[in-house]
Amino acid sequence: MITLGIETSCDETALSLIETRERDGFFECRIIASLIHSQAELHSNFGGVYPALAKREHGRNLLPLLMRLLEQAKEVYGNKPVHISDSDFDNRMNQVKEKYASRNTDLFASFTDTDFLKIVPEIDKIAITEGPGLEPALWVGISFGEILATIWSGPRGQTSREVQVIPVNHMEGHIVGSLLSSDVEIGVWQRLKPIHFPALALLISGGHTELVKIENNSNNKGPLDLNYSIIGQTKDDAVGEAFDKVARLLGLPYPGGPHVGKLAKEAKEQGLVSLIKLPRPMINSGDLNFSFSGLKTAVLYAVRDEEKKNGYLGDDWKKGLAREFEQSVKETLVTKLRQAIDEVDAKTIIIGGGVIANNTLRQAFEALAQEYNVPLYLPSSHITGDNALMIALAGALDNNKHERKLKADGTKRLNAELLLDKSR
Ligand code: KG4
Ligand code: ZN
Repeated sequence: MITLGIETSCDETALSLIETRERDGFFECRIIASLIHSQAELHSNFGGVYPALAKREHGRNLLPLLMRLLEQAKEVYGNKPVHISDSDFDNRMNQVKEKYASRNTDLFASFTDTDFLKIVPEIDKIAITEGPGLEPALWVGISFGEILATIWSGPRGQTSREVQVIPVNHMEGHIVGSLLSSDVEIGVWQRLKPIHFPALALLISGGHTELVKIENNSNNKGPLDLNYSIIGQTKDDAVGEAFDKVARLLGLPYPGGPHVGKLAKEAKEQGLVSLIKLPRPMINSGDLNFSFSGLKTAVLYAVRDEEKKNGYLGDDWKKGLAREFEQSVKETLVTKLRQAIDEVDAKTIIIGGGVIANNTLRQAFEALAQEYNVPLYLPSSHITGDNALMIALAGALDNNKHERKLKADGTKRLNAELLLDKSR
């Protein structure tokens, strides 16, 4: 089965193509092609992601990115493309224009060279991020996926085929993305890393900080039929958001996470420590929830005091503070993760989300997993941030869901989706 993944929830426009199969009861996957176009530089002028700009850029970039993706894919998959007749193609284009053009002007403005769409690739499913994320940005991805499904479904050459559209929860994407091996090349089959249940996921991104208990659905349909429940979450800011806000206070560009991490690393190398002790928020709260806005405010006060005292923020001072901030985040996350492992009796730990690019955190989680002697699955470095591989994989794994009307949902929740699925 071949799945096209589409991710447009924030400031990365990403497309990927994967092939999946079941062998001896195991789910296997190979990457055919994957591309990401980052808009981060554009948004950095605004100090964060600007939704209208994100929507415009996704609209402009999706079609050219698809053209490149299909070009790359040719090198890997024994795709036997078939042609759609000109009249069928024109009919379908008119149909999608009528339905989508008025709300997707940038997307349709990019439809200048669409002839390559007449050669239909061998695709069974189109998996699209439906939420959580920025709704205007999500809608472009949904429209684009539905447009492709309309154009590529129905008569093609001598055959006729339906392309199924699958809604994907972005956070589920971050979970399953960590099940891909890091050292497997494009085109090579891999088995997903095995999950032992109950498993525990810690999701740390720009919009979320969540602890998720994962169980295997008892009806045992296929090797991976995951059941999620959120057992802890942030009450205010997400970890990535805290990194970004602290970066801004220290005069670093957006997205700030990597920059704060770099300063903290330099502080360690140079033996710089901060005289300021930042709080470890909710570390003793007894529950599995987080709060990062107080930590950010503590940094704000420290910055104000330092500026008042010296008139500026010295480089060494910034490095020391970044180190202390990272240490506070690390201690908080490790404490809560430890508590959750105990509570759930977790047999596998999965970490996902952009913040796991941070090396200090990676090492801390590795040490914790070793202490518990539990396998730890981290995403490989090229898919820590938002990407479409994880979306395609989540869509491909989805055995239960059938085609339904997609709707962008900015605050879509993992377990809410499950309740919805069960009611269908
Ligand atoms: O998962 P992601 O790419 O997008 C969302 O779904 O939000 O996560 C983005 C977040 C940003 O807040 C970014 O600053 C943070 O991940 N991030 C990092 C690092 N790289 C990215 N935070 C800390 N250290 C890093 N190296
Ligand atoms: Zn993400």
